[in-house]
Amino acid sequence: MLDLYWVAFKSVFCFLNMCIFVKILSKKGITKIDYRMKNLKERILELKKEKNAVILAHYYQEADIQDVADYVGDSLGLSQEAMKVDADIILFAGVHFMAETAKILNPSKKVILPDLKAGCSLAESCPPEDFKKFTEAHPDHIVITYVNCSAEVKALTDIVVTSANAVKIVNSIPKDKPIIFAPDKNLGKYVMEQTGRKMLLWDGACVVHEAFSLDKLIALYKKNPDAQIIAHPESETHILKTANYIGSTAGMINYVKTNPSNKFIVATEAGILHKMKQEVPDKILIPAPSNEDNTCACSECGYMKMNTLQKVYDCLLNETPEISVPDDIMKKALIPIERMLELSK
Ligand code: 13P
Ligand code: SF4
Repeated sequence: MLDLYWVAFKSVFCFLNMCIFVKILSKKGITKIDYRMKNLKERILELKKEKNAVILAHYYQEADIQDVADYVGDSLGLSQEAMKVDADIILFAGVHFMAETAKILNPSKKVILPDLKAGCSLAESCPPEDFKKFTEAHPDHIVITYVNCSAEVKALTDIVVTSANAVKIVNSIPKDKPIIFAPDKNLGKYVMEQTGRKMLLWDGACVVHEAFSLDKLIALYKKNPDAQIIAHPESETHILKTANYIGSTAGMINYVKTNPSNKFIVATEAGILHKMKQEVPDKILIPAPSNEDNTCACSECGYMKMNTLQKVYDCLLNETPEISVPDDIMKKALIPIERMLELSK
């Protein structure tokens, strides 16, 4: 009988303790979802250690994913980082072409991507068979491709570029050499304007950067005349014409850090705002509005957002889906990527 009282007392005691604990959590503003997320983040960090893995993430990834990454960067920074990786596994939190580039640079490592369907509209706009015919029709041209393309397209390329080094690399090509530039026609036009070089452009574009609305941007600027407009060069020419600064995602972050202005209208994918807010917490950052009347009044990349924290966890746990590139493509694609890295020094 005494035992029974004792068990009942212990149960009530445990229940009361539990109630106090939940009350403390909710007082601190930790909701059920936050708690689950925190738990998931901690489990990812543990798994990373256990499996000797690193997480490389692009600035467009959701905030929680950026928070568990070892390195967050633009395409150039991510390629440079991928080369240095010492771990056994690279979990690439980004889109397919980025993970593929990491694999090409690091064939002995296991490269995993949380969702294999995380593609890119630019990469898709350049099917390798069509691109091969295009290059064969212009055999005297040097072939420069933006890193946002498949490994097969890179294998047909002389030099790869990113938005951070495209102008510098095109400027390094002898003036008398004709150039094919693919797949982004908007970046291509921008590079032509900056270098004064005429190039043969592939007709590809990024759906996210082509979604910015000029009319809404002008209206927003009229309300915020003290703001600086900054834009990614994948945006259309009429958007770029309004910009005080044009550059890669890393370049844009650096600009808001170093420019004395207090307010910026940011014309690129909205995921970048997470890192920007961390870097300049006291400055005002406004996403450039999209043509669509969406709730965020911004432009988001549906491909980048296919990766979630849960998928990052599952991917690390199961070590799948894994990126694989056929050997012959890997060897051919490595040459123009290495040329880019050399020319970026
Ligand atoms: P960055 O190399 O500037 O990060 O750009 C990558 C990208 O996909 C932009 O849409
Ligand atoms: Fe591709 Fe555009 Fe998404 Fe960048 S933002 S990954 S270019 S679809």
